[in-house]
Amino acid sequence: MSEVNGFDYIVNNKVGSSPHVPQKKSKFGLYLVGITGGIGVAISVICIPFVSPAFRKICLPYVPATTQQVQNVLQALKGRSGSLIDLGSGDGRIVFAAAKAGFKAHGIELNPWLIWYSRLKALTTGLSSQTIFIKQNLWKHNLRGYNNIVLFGVDQMMKDVETKFINELQKDSVIIACRFPLPSMNVIKIVGEGVDTVWMYKISKS
Ligand SMILES: C[S@@+](CC[C@H](N)C(=O)[O-])C[C@H]1O[C@@H](n2cnc3c(N)ncnc32)[C@H](O)[C@@H]1O
Repeated sequence: MSEVNGFDYIVNNKVGSSPHVPQKKSKFGLYLVGITGGIGVAISVICIPFVSPAFRKICLPYVPATTQQVQNVLQALKGRSGSLIDLGSGDGRIVFAAAKAGFKAHGIELNPWLIWYSRLKALTTGLSSQTIFIKQNLWKHNLRGYNNIVLFGVDQMMKDVETKFINELQKDSVIIACRFPLPSMNVIKIVGEGVDTVWMYKISKS
């Protein structure tokens, strides 16, 4: 270092203070905030459809049918054929079991993730031609075209849904209610016991 350059160095950097080394600003903190924020948003987006039923007038949460329940539904449906709809189809397990048993099976579900999961599963299991998954509110879907209805509902909804069945379903259509029975219609068959019980009803109007 020349004498002049040495003097300049001392003046510019003040004697006794540490030399000015340009600090490279770390972006680690920013990345961390971005990543954790992104993960938080992604988790919320995935969870909201599962939590939102709790804020509806009738809370019908996602509780998948047990293997025994699915078997009881199929047993109740023995001898039946045609179209079937599962109201609140969840991951589609009842729809798939019904499709394998020969029904043209539909599922209606509010949760978009469960709908996409079911559609993907239909593709990967080769059941897309026998199944349809509709993203819609079950209360707004007309049931006139179906002759077999499956519902794994909750106690609070059974009276209103019974009225919907009576108003919309054709003569000889059957309803399979899982876990909770309908309040007024006459049961024609009961399969299973405890939480896996299913009740079968038939529309008898002309
Ligand atoms: C008790 S789970 C039954 C799932 C499926 N049926 C099974 O047995 O595995 C009820 C389903 O209904 C859906 N659900 C709740 N309210 C709904 C509504 N208004 N319209 C359509 N689906 C609804 C929930 O997201 C949930 O997947």
